[in-house]
Amino acid sequence: MCGIIGYAGSQNPLSVLLAGLRRLEYRGYDSAGIALTRGENDRLFICKNRGKITDLEQKLARSSAPVDARAGIGHTRWATHGEPSEKNAHPHLSQDGRFAIVHNGIIENYADLRQNLSKRGFVFQSDTDSEVIAHLIQACYEGDFKSAVAAAVRNLEGTYGIAVVCSMHPDMIVVARKGSPIVIGVGDGETIIASDASAVIQHTRHAIFLDDGDMACVTCNKVDVASLSNIPVTRELTHIDWDVGRLEKGGYEHFMLKEIHEQPQSLADSIRGRLIIEEGTSKLSGLRMEAADIVRIRRALIAACGTSLYAGIVGKYLFEDIAGIPADAQQAAELRYRNPIIEPETIMLAISQSGETADTLAAVREGIRKGALVLGICNVVGSSIARAAGRGVYLHAGPEIGVASTKAFSSQVAVLAMMALLFGRIRRLSATEGAGIASEIARLPQIAQEILNGEEEIRKTAEKYAGVRDFFFIGRGYLYPAALEGALKLKEISYIHAEGYHAAELKHGPIALLDKDVPVFAAVAASSGRIKTLANMQECRARGAPVIAVATDGDESVAAVADDIIHIPPCPEYLSPIPVVIVEQLFAYYAAKARGCPIDQPRNLAKSVTVE
Ligand code: AGP
Repeated sequence: MCGIIGYAGSQNPLSVLLAGLRRLEYRGYDSAGIALTRGENDRLFICKNRGKITDLEQKLARSSAPVDARAGIGHTRWATHGEPSEKNAHPHLSQDGRFAIVHNGIIENYADLRQNLSKRGFVFQSDTDSEVIAHLIQACYEGDFKSAVAAAVRNLEGTYGIAVVCSMHPDMIVVARKGSPIVIGVGDGETIIASDASAVIQHTRHAIFLDDGDMACVTCNKVDVASLSNIPVTRELTHIDWDVGRLEKGGYEHFMLKEIHEQPQSLADSIRGRLIIEEGTSKLSGLRMEAADIVRIRRALIAACGTSLYAGIVGKYLFEDIAGIPADAQQAAELRYRNPIIEPETIMLAISQSGETADTLAAVREGIRKGALVLGICNVVGSSIARAAGRGVYLHAGPEIGVASTKAFSSQVAVLAMMALLFGRIRRLSATEGAGIASEIARLPQIAQEILNGEEEIRKTAEKYAGVRDFFFIGRGYLYPAALEGALKLKEISYIHAEGYHAAELKHGPIALLDKDVPVFAAVAASSGRIKTLANMQECRARGAPVIAVATDGDESVAAVADDIIHIPPCPEYLSPIPVVIVEQLFAYYAAKARGCPIDQPRNLAKSVTVE
């Protein structure tokens, strides 16, 4: 997500902020900005823009940045609410210009807060959730900077890591965190704050890591940590001994493994504020669709590529099972050239993590040409596909840097499930049925965590099979697209040839390839076709092929037809692709690692395929 930097000390704050922002560039961002304090009650200096830090530096060179700045904060924005633009870039100023804030996280109740503040005469300059915080601090200010920040933050629901400067206290920075990290580097006569330690260690390796619910008042030689009720809190000073590379990956060896492990959090972020369990539905305001529009939908056409296509196939099943809408998921390039039949009330879902995949963008344009209502399901706010669609649902999964898509898949399926729930609840589901589905969706972060807790077993199994040349992945129903995704993950980062097949399809030819050197990875958990898949596994073993099964905890029948079993927690079939695919992600990762492959940048691949 976003990057935060702050500095109070004897060095030139602007230079320190820019160097810190550069250190945070790896996180992915679309705009950047800084705020500086000068003399007491002097106006704060703000400079921000859409684009890269280089663009910000050029803008600063043309502006009158103060040479006598006392402290400052900076931000690299990865958009969640409000497209990438100068007005939406951070820092955001309070209406009276006395407070400037930078924020990382998602404020769930920003719409209510914005409405309330507007009624009190506050005028908003941006489309972001973050700007609410700046005005709220002003509204809460009664003479004490830190108390005003505490009072404002107590009104926030959701996640935040914030840093705030104030023109009346030019030597001070106030920070607070809940759900988005804030680290405070304690130097010699200087203090650096950041959203991750990689921006701190160029100054000091002595740091305080705030906990959720903490806030701190920071000057060049003082750090006072307290709760939001202003009760002093002791946080130990730790020594950071990681190198920068490891810090950028959050301590993981590769971005891919970091992003696999981010899935409990990224799923929580994708779901946050979007489930209304008591009403058995979801809230997806970005669709901008009324119930009457949804009732009229006659078909859903899903266009995507690669991993997003496999999430789209899960979406097809979800739309038909839960929403009662006929659906078809197609490779975007195929869809755009085969003159798709678009009838009245056809919706097109364009699924794309990057939002820049050329084939998917072309399919969107073809769908629009033929009168389809197009909904974008993207991770990157303001991306080409999101803008071309004009409406849809953002994943809020945070930047995905590893070329192999991981957390995007689980968030795509979660968003598709919430869409199917919303549409289904309007068209056919009772409140009770909807509440049951909503409750299961709400459990996804916990299910993801349970899979990650079993990482060691998955690693051992992956290493056992890392030397093979060919692999099959099989599944039925919802687990058929999971098999396709598992095969893609393995081949694209370990270079092992892998094919994903419907379990029933093997005997129609591919089984000719099986022998003791061709393992079969069978997803048999929670699937309606479980018995048949067990039979297919038996057929594979009869040809000498080793079988690895992903099965639900307590399913003892699998042992008779599998050489290795990876267990997952109970999960409804319609959500089972998520835990199964997380298993497959880890399996592929550790197989690739055992083979010494360059995991984050596999050969021949790009993160976003912007050519047809
Ligand atoms: C996934 O691991 C691949 N890197 C690739 O298939 C990717 O999913 C595909 O190119 C689609 O990308 P998008 O989601 O950004 O559109």
